[in-house]
Amino acid sequence: AIRSKLVAGNWKMHGGTIQNRELLNAIIAGTEELGEGGVAVFVPYPYLSQSQSILQKTHVSWGAQNVSQHDKGAYTGEVSAAMLMDFGCRYVIIGHSERRALYGEDSRTVALKFKAAQAAGLIPVLCIGETLDQREAVITEQVVAEQLDTVIELVGINALADSVLAYEPVWAIGTGKTATPEQAQDVHGFIRDRIAASNPEVAAELKVLYGGSVKASNAAELFAMPDIDGGLIGGASLIADEFIAICNAAR
Ligand code: G3H
Repeated sequence: AIRSKLVAGNWKMHGGTIQNRELLNAIIAGTEELGEGGVAVFVPYPYLSQSQSILQKTHVSWGAQNVSQHDKGAYTGEVSAAMLMDFGCRYVIIGHSERRALYGEDSRTVALKFKAAQAAGLIPVLCIGETLDQREAVITEQVVAEQLDTVIELVGINALADSVLAYEPVWAIGTGKTATPEQAQDVHGFIRDRIAASNPEVAAELKVLYGGSVKASNAAELFAMPDIDGGLIGGASLIADEFIAICNAAR
């Protein structure tokens, strides 16, 4: 296949130095066969240094869960893309639904963050997805199209080639309610077709991950769908055996 799979763990605001060490070492040992580029973890900022020291020279990549859209300056509490590069990050999550809903990140801010991440050399993992109300109103496609288009308008379609997308239906995040493989595939297919209309090569190569209550028990059927190129895993990424099983479902 033209696209290799990626399984990424988003730890959200969980962790501690003792349990991180144990979890990261287990992930390294348990996912060896996936090789370079197949596994990543998104850790809280304070643990980037620890992650770098444990994961460097392994096949597992690491990244942060958010980044500032600004390069530097009087932005108390913010972290720049250059700082993430300084700690060896390969990726950064951009526009997670929790950032959009709880911290007021609109599509414009998300687009600026995407641009800042790429300018520094990071691979943005851009999250898009509809709420339950939006799905019930049958506007899922309009919602994800708007989220995507705002980024494309700012950075151009070619910039998407150096990114990863994550389709995360908000109603499936942390709820135990996973989208069916068919429901997910429908939206993944829509996203890829939409990008293909502007640039078929970019569309063919772009990884689109699924996120939302992925578990070891449902990962394989999701990853088997033609336009699902792996997963962005929340809760299950904190449990070593569970996360390792999900990674290996992507082989
Ligand atoms: O970034 C990960 C997603 O928000 C999914 O979280 O696997 O806990 O549903 P979850």
